[in-house]
Amino acid sequence: MNVDGVVAVMTGGASGIGFGVAQALAKRGAKVVLADIEAERALAAAETLRDQGLEATSCYLDVIDQASWDATADLAFGHWDQAPQLLFNNAGVAGPGTVHGVSRQTWAWVFKVNVEGVYLGVKTFAPRMLDSGLPCRIVNTASEHALGLPDSAKGGISAAYTSAKHAVMGYSLCARRDFAGTNLSVGVVCPGPVATDIWNSFRNRHGDFGGPRLLVVEGEVPMSRSLPFATAGERIVEQVEDDAFFIFTNGPNEAEVIETYQAEVTAAMAAFRQRYGV
Ligand SMILES: NC(=O)c1ccc[n+]([C@@H]2O[C@H](COP(=O)([O-])OP(=O)(O)OC[C@H]3O[C@@H](n4cnc5c(N)ncnc54)[C@H](O)[C@@H]3O)[C@@H](O)[C@H]2O)c1
Repeated sequence: MNVDGVVAVMTGGASGIGFGVAQALAKRGAKVVLADIEAERALAAAETLRDQGLEATSCYLDVIDQASWDATADLAFGHWDQAPQLLFNNAGVAGPGTVHGVSRQTWAWVFKVNVEGVYLGVKTFAPRMLDSGLPCRIVNTASEHALGLPDSAKGGISAAYTSAKHAVMGYSLCARRDFAGTNLSVGVVCPGPVATDIWNSFRNRHGDFGGPRLLVVEGEVPMSRSLPFATAGERIVEQVEDDAFFIFTNGPNEAEVIETYQAEVTAAMAAFRQRYGV
């Protein structure tokens, strides 16, 4: 997809990977809407892009709130008087806890933002994108956690996050099937470790789920060994330009996760066939 001149909406665009992708898009001539629950940070981020001579605006968006999705869509269609052709469902949060130790609040919040947030984005934008008749693309952010179970997560601290990202992958596969043959295509980003504020996700936890807290999740991959978000952004945009469905950032991390998973499934299927002869 040629991104030059298109309007692109980025959820979670105020920081991290979302900002990196938005910057890479804007450098290629896209007009970007940074939509984020951290509205002031999004405002400053858009200003940073405009200072570089790029086209950007920002708005408040809470991905679990339909009214703010409607307002974001109105802004995205109205600001440049041009239908958006790209939606990045990038906003996401992480929360700690083993499969039995994770609190119901954390479980519910992580699924609400990471999974329902993506669904609401598609529900809001897909009908209008289909109506526009323009070549459009929705790119959902899953994770290397959607490809199996990363080594970094084997301490069992991210049961809700890993499970939610598998759901984003399943939903993205369904979206690709459901929009096949239309003007709307789909991609799914599976980042490996990228240096961002993800480990401090509780800063944005909603009141209904316990409210904000300063909690940096320990035990995951140290940020110092992670990819800079600007590099991740460039790589993601290059793969969007190639119309890729599966989009990666790091390479070795994602390969290790999926190869381990595939080897286990292949071995289990071979054992099953041998036993039942089917
Ligand atoms: N950083 C990594 O190593 C990594 C790896 C795999 C996947 N991811 C995924 O990448 C995406 C971006 O995360 P990041 O690493 O850049 O983290 P980040 O915390 O730097 O950025 C996330 C952004 O989402 C926003 N946000 C949070 N809740 C929101 C809500 N309810 N509504 C709207 N905006 C909201 C935050 O304000 C923030 O700007 C997430 O989906 C994350 O799960 C990150």
